Amino acid sequence: MNKEMIEKAGSFIKEKIKHKPKIGLILGSGLGILVDEIENQVKIPYHTIPEFPTSTVEGHEGQLVFGDIHGVSVVAMQGRIHFYEGYDMEKVTFPVRVMKELGVDILVVTNAAGGVNTSFEPGDLMLITDHINFTGTSPLIGPNNPELGLRFVDMSHPYDRELRDVARNAAKEVNVNLQEGVYLAVTGPSYETPAEIRMFRTLGADAVGMSTVSEVMVARHADLRVLGISCISNMAAGILDQPLNHEEVIETTQRVRSQFLSLVKEIVRKLG
Ligand code: 6GU
Repeated sequence: MNKEMIEKAGSFIKEKIKHKPKIGLILGSGLGILVDEIENQVKIPYHTIPEFPTSTVEGHEGQLVFGDIHGVSVVAMQGRIHFYEGYDMEKVTFPVRVMKELGVDILVVTNAAGGVNTSFEPGDLMLITDHINFTGTSPLIGPNNPELGLRFVDMSHPYDRELRDVARNAAKEVNVNLQEGVYLAVTGPSYETPAEIRMFRTLGADAVGMSTVSEVMVARHADLRVLGISCISNMAAGILDQPLNHEEVIETTQRVRSQFLSLVKEIVRKLG
C-alpha cells in the first residue's frame, strides 16, 4: 500500500475539516441514517477525494460525514465499498487507511448480516466478538509497508475487549438487547445456499455477511481499536422457508433504526 496515496487523500480532507476525528464509523446497508445524528456536519463525497473508491451498489453516492456526536468528533462513511463491486481489497479498505491518517484511533464497523445462529431473530443487534475470514483473500497481501504496520498482524483480539464492555454497558443503559457472536465474511454477491449456511454454523459462525472483515484486518494492521455491530436483517438460507432479498435487509434495518441509533450514540458518548 502506497503511503503517498493515503497522504494525498488525507491532506485533501484535512483542508476541509476543523476538528480531528477520534472515532471512525463505517455504516452498513440501511444504517447510513446514523449520519443524521451528526452535528456540525461537513460532507465530502467520495468521488471528490483523490484515490478514493466510489461505491456503486446503493442508489445514492457515498460520502464521508464529519462532525460531532455528543460532543465527540467523528467521521462516518455513509456507504461502504464492497469487494463484490469489483474493487480489489486494497481499494475496499483504503478509507480505513485514510481514517487512520486523519487521526482516528477507534473504528466502529457496522453491517447488515444474515442470522446463522438459529436462536437469533431478524432485527436483533449483535456485538461482533470475533470473525472468520471466508473470503479467500486478504487486503494485506502484497509487499508490506512497515510505516503502516507489521508484516504479520496479531489477530488474537480483533475486536477490542474494552470496547466490547463499553458496548454491553451502553446497550443496558439504552435498553437494547444485544446478542453476541462470530461474524463470517464471504465475498458475495450471491447469498449462500442452505448447505453453506449449515457448514458455517458448524464452523462456529453466528452471522454471515459480505463486508467488515477486510476492513478490520486493515484496521488491526494500522493498530486501530475496533468495535463491530451487526444488524441481523434476515435469517440466512435454509433456516426459514423464505427467499432472501436486499429489500428485506433494508426493511429490517429501518425497523430497528431507533435502537441501532441509540446504541451507537451511547457508545460514542461513553468513548468521548
Ligand atoms: Cl443471508 N448472507 C450474506 N452473505 N450477506 C447478508 C445476508 C446473508 N443477509 C444480509 N447480508
